[in-house]
Amino acid sequence: ITEIARVRNINRIRMGRHEVDTWYFSPYPQEFTACDTVHLCEFCLSPFDSEFQLVRHSKRCRLQHPPGNEIYRHEDISFFEIDGRRQRTYCRNLCLLSKLFLDHKTLYYDVDPFLFYVMCQTDAHGAHIIGYFSKEKDSAENYNLACILTLPQHQRKGYGRILIAFSYELSKVEGKLGSPEKPLSDLGLLSYRAYWTEAIVERLIRFRGDVTVEEIANATAITPQDVMHTLQSIDALKYYKGQHIICLSNKVVEAYRRAEQKKRRCIHPELLDWKPPV
Ligand code: COA
Ligand code: NA
Repeated sequence: ITEIARVRNINRIRMGRHEVDTWYFSPYPQEFTACDTVHLCEFCLSPFDSEFQLVRHSKRCRLQHPPGNEIYRHEDISFFEIDGRRQRTYCRNLCLLSKLFLDHKTLYYDVDPFLFYVMCQTDAHGAHIIGYFSKEKDSAENYNLACILTLPQHQRKGYGRILIAFSYELSKVEGKLGSPEKPLSDLGLLSYRAYWTEAIVERLIRFRGDVTVEEIANATAITPQDVMHTLQSIDALKYYKGQHIICLSNKVVEAYRRAEQKKRRCIHPELLDWKPPV
């Protein structure tokens, strides 16, 4: 816990053709704090203190995608499922990397209880990580996501939205409702609010007529609490002639239509090739 409060110790990382300034402290081994830029293998995520060391490593590294099963592919986007217990080194490297951009979450040295869902974009050289989320194998609180990260070089392009969408698709297959682990970061909260609003408004627009909070929850795998919160935040809960009703303002509907116009990537549930791990 004391480590988390420490100051930023790594200035910059280099991954493939991207060079990125870091945001927060991450407990990389001491030797890396002396170098200006930490060079990461794009595929196994191992850190190196010089380009020379990385190049030497790359000649031997056999990985061209994360070390797990590909459970989804649409065009050049794939998701891989990685078991923290079976791929400890990779998952620890992923946690070290993501801690550079996460302020508050405790870093899990113990990756065994988690599954990691890594989203990649594939080109002729391999499957390049864009972001990921982790999920407890057995969450007492029924959380369907523990940590989420879009690497900074890929942020604000809609990838966070599809990571979140993917986490809810997994919950639908499990036949469960899910919610992300709290507390969320500011960016996490902004992204979830945007996702929830869009998913719920879509549902309401498609199903005119009577629909209950429970029905919205069951259709989206978003918990009733998160549905209620979202409806409140868009001022869609009204009291009318002695009854509570859900009613969307023109402003909300127009915002939804505008977002719909933007051609954005989405998850195609029929392409998910996955069964809940037993
Ligand atoms: N400022 C304002 N709104 C933001 C935002 C920002 N910096 N980042 C995301 N949003 C909101 C917007 O509404 C955005 O939709 P828009 O771009 O159409 O306006 C929506 O969230 C989705 O954004 P998206 O591009 O899909 O998200 P992303 O790929 O940038 O990833 C995070 C979002 C949270 C995963 C990313 O910011 C991140 O990795 N942060 C660091 C780690 C972290 O804090 N994780 C959450 C811990 S619980
Ligand atoms: Na990552």
